[in-house]
Amino acid sequence: MAPVTNIADLRDIARRRIPRAMFEYAQRGSYDERTLAANYAELDALRLRQRVMVDVSKRNVATTFLGQDVTIPVGIAPTGLTGLFHADGEILGARAAQAFGVPFTLSTMSICSIEDVAGAVDKPFWFQLYVMRDRAFTQSLVERARAAGCPVLVLTLDLAAHGQRHRDIKNGLSVPPRLTLANALDIATKPGWALNVLRGQRRSFGNLQGWMPAGKNLNAMAQWVAQQFDPSLSWKDVAWIRSLWPGKLVLKGILDPEDARIAADHGADAIVVSNHGGRQLDSAPASISVLPEIASAVGSRTEILLDGGIRTGQDVLKALALGARGCLIGRSWLYGLAAGGQGGVTQVLEILRKELDTSMALAGLTDVRSVTPAALHTPRRV
Ligand SMILES: Cc1cc2nc3c(=O)[nH]c(=O)nc-3n(C[C@H](O)[C@H](O)[C@H](O)COP(=O)(O)O)c2cc1C
Repeated sequence: MAPVTNIADLRDIARRRIPRAMFEYAQRGSYDERTLAANYAELDALRLRQRVMVDVSKRNVATTFLGQDVTIPVGIAPTGLTGLFHADGEILGARAAQAFGVPFTLSTMSICSIEDVAGAVDKPFWFQLYVMRDRAFTQSLVERARAAGCPVLVLTLDLAAHGQRHRDIKNGLSVPPRLTLANALDIATKPGWALNVLRGQRRSFGNLQGWMPAGKNLNAMAQWVAQQFDPSLSWKDVAWIRSLWPGKLVLKGILDPEDARIAADHGADAIVVSNHGGRQLDSAPASISVLPEIASAVGSRTEILLDGGIRTGQDVLKALALGARGCLIGRSWLYGLAAGGQGGVTQVLEILRKELDTSMALAGLTDVRSVTPAALHTPRRV
């Protein structure tokens, strides 16, 4: 088999290893996938500036996120249902991130619970919160994250309603549940996944046990959980969470400079410029295209992370050039996990590190902490 040289190779292995419904749950976006496509297209359209005859023998790709040392300016984004890509997927992701020296963010909608992950790693991880209609339960999640030693709470703001993903419905992944003949035949061709995941211990929403009604199948539970998301959420709820959480607070899902300013006013230690990986408002702009405006709106009041479409080290460099302190990766890490478990996630991080490091050398840059718009061939002035 040809060697794996980039994240696209891991994606292709993942496609062969896991059921189509799971692969498409990760890969696809909402509605006509215009925003999903724009995330990639806008990153691709940016050009890096090649510089020569600069001494780049000493290079640094390490930085800090929220005062925490990171070996590369990349963190793992929260993703739901991850333990269905690989048994104990969240634990494996957290272990890979810990060993590599980057943050891992556990989703509210994870399969492994906060306590499962805390018991499996020595270093703290970040927890992503969805504020549910049931505020007492929401508060209990915050308290559990605190008890587990999470230093950072990532509050996701862009899920006032669920963007529809056509493929999930057609694949029977979404509600109402539909086990089609095609699904069953497809799973029969993925025996490795079936043995690994279907025989694993954890197959339901780990954080929601005891709160969700018992005895429903995964799809019915997903439907019930979807009804618990609260469209009445407002900045008042952000203020409430801020008052509950003594640690660092990250607000994820900011795509507008005005919202970025309000987020900073509400005490956000960092924001994530994000359109949820093109899974929510279709036709929203690519995250990279709004980054410069947001960076100039908030200045140094809050740290800025970006996600959406990051699949190479060159992408990371482009985001740094336009004002991000670093990036989060969603699909990229899931592909590594599905392709090769913990080792696959490590491989993703290693590929990004090498690509970033080499690209910096070729662009005449020596430190990720001082990349400016001048790193781009046509700097976008804001
Ligand atoms: C399969 C999948 C599940 C996701 N689940 C969550 C989630 O539970 N919470 C959340 O805040 N974001 C979730 N996201 C969004 C990611 O955190 C991130 O914003 C997005 O994946 C970044 O884009 P990228 O996949 O192109 O890197 C999910 C994304 C994917 C692909």
